[in-house]
Amino acid sequence: MKRTRVSSGRACGGISVEADWYTESFAEAAQVLLSPETFSSADVLKARPSHKGLAGKLLAEQGLPYARTLIDNDAPEHKRFRQLIAPFFSNARVKSLREPARNFVRTAIDEVRPHGAMELVSKIASPLPLAMIGAVLGMSMSSGSLCQVKAWCDDWMALQSSSAPEGELVRCAQSYLSLQRFMSETLQNHDAAADDLLGALVRARSEGMLSRVEQVRLAMGVLVAGHETTTLGIANAAVAFVEYPQYHAAVRAEASARRAFVEEALRLDPPVQLLFRRVDRDTAIGGVTVAAGDRVAIDYACANRDAAQMGSDAQRFLPGPASRKAHLGFGRGEHACPGSTLARLEIELVLEALSGLPGLRFSEPPRRRAPHASLGGWDRIPLEWDASP
Ligand code: HEM
Repeated sequence: MKRTRVSSGRACGGISVEADWYTESFAEAAQVLLSPETFSSADVLKARPSHKGLAGKLLAEQGLPYARTLIDNDAPEHKRFRQLIAPFFSNARVKSLREPARNFVRTAIDEVRPHGAMELVSKIASPLPLAMIGAVLGMSMSSGSLCQVKAWCDDWMALQSSSAPEGELVRCAQSYLSLQRFMSETLQNHDAAADDLLGALVRARSEGMLSRVEQVRLAMGVLVAGHETTTLGIANAAVAFVEYPQYHAAVRAEASARRAFVEEALRLDPPVQLLFRRVDRDTAIGGVTVAAGDRVAIDYACANRDAAQMGSDAQRFLPGPASRKAHLGFGRGEHACPGSTLARLEIELVLEALSGLPGLRFSEPPRRRAPHASLGGWDRIPLEWDASP
């Protein structure tokens, strides 16, 4: 364990975050993730520095009160929320989304193929995950409202960044409140009999299993967790795909090569780079004693590049070796990502489509997103290819 973050190449975001300790190996990160009775998730989202000042005042006065749901909760309460959403991420559910997702990607690529150029994030990496999480939730949105929801979610993510100026944080807080109102109204008008996640939340509320605040916060949490990370997952894998043309033929030809490529991209450039836990009792870890009340940052990016776990070539992009599948890109333990199968499917389908564009290359250098307390990846990827005459 270190008092400051260990650099891990491209994966580091370069932003200072509020933490007393940073994990610096795979073993330490795994120990934290697998010991929830010592390393608590409760309220980890509450203590954002950006939630102070004017933005915090606005949220306190006009927003719903804080309530723990999934990512910021511990057992046994956490289980109540997890069980509610789990059926909507089963293998069968994800399988039913394969064709809609594939059609989405094919249509988008068919539109741009003759032009020989596109900006991948705005064309596919951003709208695809939003459409898919919208389908899981049961939100039928016009493309206009999709854009609006996306903008609100982006502002919510920016709200978690302590480095933004206060005026910007206030604007982001207003977006967050708009999203809260939107989700609240959507839930009020949603069909209680619908076979989708919002339908399940409406039923759970009427059966007294959820408060209104929990219902809205849970739906918002799934909405944002389901697309912001996947957009980065697609983007980071796509950049690696362009950077390593030696894998293009295999990725095009074999599903197993596509899957291996996806895992390696998630390992070396994980969308979720840092997340936090609160120490509930003094504990020895990594040669130090962390004290009750300390805030620990789990450094997923460093864990995934740990040579002790991944081998001496851990820093190199080498899709394939089975051990690398054990990366921490989707977390581990009680909070392990429930959307990992859906996310992997979406990334795989995009790589499959990109592998059909001859001579694929960057038309301009891709751009890394602004540093964020937890997320990392590319947010602009201008591509070109040899368009057929
Ligand atoms: C590449 C894409 C994704 C990445 C890298 C990712 C990563 C993660 C990680 C690391 C966690 C663990 C958080 C913790 O330990 O505190 C997590 C939790 C979660 N993820 Fe994902 N995720 C992705 C996609 C998705 C998708 C597609 C969905 C939903 C459709 C989703 C929904 C969630 C939810 C609801 C949680 C909280 C689970 C809990 O606390 O029990 N994620 N994700």
